Amino acid sequence: VGEADLAGRHVLVSAGGTREPLDPVRFLGNRSSGKQGYALAAAAAARGARVTLLSANVSLPGPAGVDVIPVATALELREAAVKAAPEADVVVMAAAVADFRPAVYATGKIKKVEGEEPAPVALVRNPDILAELSADRTRPGQLVVGFAAETDQVLAHGRAKLARKGCDLLVVNEVGDGKAFGTDTNEAVILGADGSETPVPPGPKEELADAIWDQVVARLG
Ligand code: C5P
Repeated sequence: VGEADLAGRHVLVSAGGTREPLDPVRFLGNRSSGKQGYALAAAAAARGARVTLLSANVSLPGPAGVDVIPVATALELREAAVKAAPEADVVVMAAAVADFRPAVYATGKIKKVEGEEPAPVALVRNPDILAELSADRTRPGQLVVGFAAETDQVLAHGRAKLARKGCDLLVVNEVGDGKAFGTDTNEAVILGADGSETPVPPGPKEELADAIWDQVVARLG
């Protein structure tokens, strides 16, 4: 790299993991550290892009020159993404978005009651932001990139997800057994809606970030 091949482009990246509140002190969350999304934002800025980073519960310093918008829940992430997407040439949804949120938010801390069983937690579906952004593109030539963490049949599940979500590229990685989450390295296959399949060998998340931008740049008009 070393080239400003994203100069004049505006990219929107989401990073981290959403937290879905149960009450003022508790939430349902996930193990995403935000490292891959932050690496994507930093790499895009280094390649000349204007970068907006929707950051969900990440405890990392904001990359230099990147406009960071903090969000907490899937609904907040959706609102910020829908607002920013029409201005973006590329949207990369690297955040781990909770598929479900508690149906009820208790405004006071949920208490244990002596001699009583805890109440079950009812969940409702969150909107699928990636599918929505892919379907509702208004900006001509906009590219949408999604991520998929799979534990088995990685390529088959990845292809099916790419088609279901309607995005242009899907970065699939295998998770479980200490792979990917919270680590500094990643290994992935970048699947294209055009049928392409680009394996990225195990390496720093910065290298995967550049490999993803290479695929994006090759498809930008
Ligand atoms: O369906 P799954 O959660 O495996 O899809 C992962 C991809 O979809 C990621 O790019 C994630 O950011 C995005 N996603 C989303 N909204 C959801 C769930 C996932 O945008 N509610």
